[in-house]
Order: sequence, then structure tokens, then C-alpha cells
Amino acid sequence: MKVLVIGPGGREHAIVRSLLADPNVSEVHAAPGNAGISKLVPTHAIDANDPDAVAALATKLTVDLVVVGPEAPLAAGVSDAVRAAGIPVFGPSKAAAQLEASKAFAKEVMAEAGVPTAMARVAANAQEAADALDTFGAPFVVKDDGLAAGKGVVVTNNRDEALAHAQSCFDAGGTVVIEEFLDGPEVSVFVLCDGRNTVALSPAQDFKRIFDNDEGPNTGGMGAYTPLEWAPEGLVQEVIDRVAQPTVNQMAHRGTPFVGVLFVGLALTSRGTRVIEFNVRFGDPETQAVLARLKTPLGGLLMAAAKGELDKVQPLRWSKETAVAVVVAAENYPDTPRTGDRIRGLKKVESIEGVHVIHAGTRLDDEGKVVSAGGRVLAVVALGTDLVEARERAYDGVELVQLDGGQFRTDIGGKAARGEIKVKTAGAAATKAKA
Ligand code: AMP
Ligand code: GLY
Repeated sequence: MKVLVIGPGGREHAIVRSLLADPNVSEVHAAPGNAGISKLVPTHAIDANDPDAVAALATKLTVDLVVVGPEAPLAAGVSDAVRAAGIPVFGPSKAAAQLEASKAFAKEVMAEAGVPTAMARVAANAQEAADALDTFGAPFVVKDDGLAAGKGVVVTNNRDEALAHAQSCFDAGGTVVIEEFLDGPEVSVFVLCDGRNTVALSPAQDFKRIFDNDEGPNTGGMGAYTPLEWAPEGLVQEVIDRVAQPTVNQMAHRGTPFVGVLFVGLALTSRGTRVIEFNVRFGDPETQAVLARLKTPLGGLLMAAAKGELDKVQPLRWSKETAVAVVVAAENYPDTPRTGDRIRGLKKVESIEGVHVIHAGTRLDDEGKVVSAGGRVLAVVALGTDLVEARERAYDGVELVQLDGGQFRTDIGGKAARGEIKVKTAGAAATKAKA
């Protein structure tokens, strides 16, 4: 099987790495890729957000499957163009990608499907925003309704700050979704979908804020670990039964079947499991950790999803080890990151047992040296017999990465390793766990 992977980031590097380990995958290409990906497979310098360019490349390369990584090409209709060219594609249509591209649309589908989520209101002007904020009270949650790379959400106790964020979205011509605040730990569950059937991957936890102890602004994600020893038994089944399957059924019913990965962002609140958001692609950097543990060959799995054959796949097989991914970001991320700096020490990092490096914002300079080219530059991914060992290995690796101004969180998986995460949920998962 020949596969083309679309996207430039860490998620795509992790996908390429796993595809190369699939015995049935004979050839992998990527577009546009990054410095790490280009060391593994041929890369093609096309605009990944241009549906015609991607379809033309897939046709020229005579690939059997196209895997679309990020949300932007999905929202631009890349999957539709590839499908129209007669090539199986893992990734939702433009219409189905609205589950991520519009938070208001996602809320509508969740309501239709009876999926538990935060109460929310759409606001289009300052008065509506103020009313909604006062309805739900503090802490205030204000979300830009469009795609914002994980950075369009402000959670604050300061009403003025909440209003100011809403105003900046209105000024940019957009609307906002204002929600009730959800307490409790957050979980990311990736559910493979083929339009009808669903298969969940092992849950992970992401760290959205830039600084330790969840301080500072939101980012795309600063690190992740999996599995979650502390998660209630039955959580994955609850996500399938109450969230993913009803959503997939509803999308099919609407005539916009969902094919690809439904990324369910959850809060395990004191009132039960609630969906925080849907994304329509693998999470980054959760994928770097999740795929490090997946033993079932990835190519066959993604092809089964693309062809509507997930009901034929065997139960997934997982490594017993724990995986941790720690992101090294550029100076000044998530604001305008400084780029163009040399990155050194990566060979030494990979000489640590159980450790590999996944590139995100990197490129090769004119001399063929690896330099930074984005906000999140790379992730050090480590496997260990438990979370304590995986963290030690990951941080031993991070210490060896040389990048001027590089920043990373020191507490990825820390609370979980110390047994400090408590789920107060009264939801079905907790009840089942006791039964
Ligand atoms: P989103 O882009 O919707 O995933 O939001 C980014 C982050 O903001 C989430 O991962 C949460 O940490 C936080 N967040 C979003 N919605 C809520 C909510 N209703 N209550 C509490 N935190 C939230
Ligand atoms: N890590 C969260 C995301 O990919 O949106």
C-alpha cells in the first residue's frame, strides 16, 4: 500500500513513522512535511490547503490512500477533492469538518444527538456577549467560533477580559460561543470513524497552557501522556456510547457522513462526562504519545476507516508501556515565535533507551541543517514501563535538546505520576466502575 500524508507538523511526523512500521505499507510520501519527515520519506512542496493540488499529487503518485493531518486542509475541502479523484482518503469532507471549523455547528449536532456538553450560547455583539456571560457567571469561557489552532479560547474570572476577547472576535468579523465552565480533569479520546462504525484509541491527556501549573495563555498543546491510569473504568465505552456513535449516526443522518478521526475533548466534571470540543483530526501532541503505543499496524486501520470497513478490524493491540511526549517550543510561543535557530543534540536525545524525537516546526536550511520554523518545534517522546520512567526518559531527552530560547513545561504527566488527579464524576463511567 502506498500512502500520502498531508500536513507539516508533529502529528504528521508521528503518523509517517507509524505507517513505515506497517508491513503492508510499501511506500509513504508527505506534503509538505518538515525536516524530520523529509529524513524518512520523499516530501513534496505543495500547498496542503489547496484541494486541487493535493488531489493532483495523489493521482500523480498513484497512492492507495491519502491521510489528511491538520484541520485547515479538511475545512478547505481537500478530502472531497481526493475522493472525487477516486482515491480513498482518511479525513472528513468539508461539510463534516464543520464539527471543528464551527463551534456553533458542533453544538447544534451535539444537541441533536443528545451528546452531553457545556451549556452554551452564540453571541454576535457586545450586548449578547454580556448577557451570556452573566447567565453562566464566572469563570467565564469565551470561544472564537472559527478555527483558531487551539488559541481562540479564553477562560478567565475577569469579566472585562472575557468581554474584550469577545469584542476582538466581533471586530474580526466573527461570532463567539459563550459557555458554562466545566470543572474536572480533561481527556482526549480519538475515535476512528468510517461513516458508520467507530473504534476508539487509548485516551490521552494534553497540557494546553504554555507554563507549568496550567498558567499563561492557551497553546496548541505542550505535552501529553497515555494511557490514563486514573481514568474511570468504562470511560472509553461511555465515549463511544454517549458521544462518538450518536454523533456519527447524526452526521450520517444529515447526509454528511463522518470519515476520519473524531477527536473528543472531554471534561470529567462533578456532574458527569461532558464534551468540551470536537476536532476532526488527530490531536497534536497527543498523537505522538498515542501512536508510540499502538501495535496494530496503522496503515490497515486508516484504510479500513477510509473504505467503510472498520467493523472488520480486530480489537486494537497496545504496548503495555506508558508514553510521554514533551514539546519544546520556540521563544515567544504562543505569541509570534522566534524562528530560524539551529537545533542541536537530537542524535544524543535518540540514543536514550525508549526515546525518539518527533519534529513539528522544523526545516532544513541551505546547508541541510535542522532549524526552527514554527512555534512548537519538536516533541521528545519516551516509552517507559510506567509514567515515572517514561517521564524521566522524556525529560532526560529534553535536557539534551539545544535550541536558543527554547521553552518547555516541566510538569507533563507530573500530577498523574504523583497520583494527584481525582475524578469526582457522578457520570455513567464512575457508576460502571463501581458496579
Ligand atoms: P477548545 O479549543 O474548545 O478545546 O478549548 C481550549 C481549552 O480551553 C480546553 O482544552 C479547556 O482547557 C478550556 N476550555 C474550553 N471550554 C471550556 C469550558 N466550558 N470549561 C472549562 N474550560 C474550558
Ligand atoms: N492537542 C490538542 C489539539 O490538537 O487540538
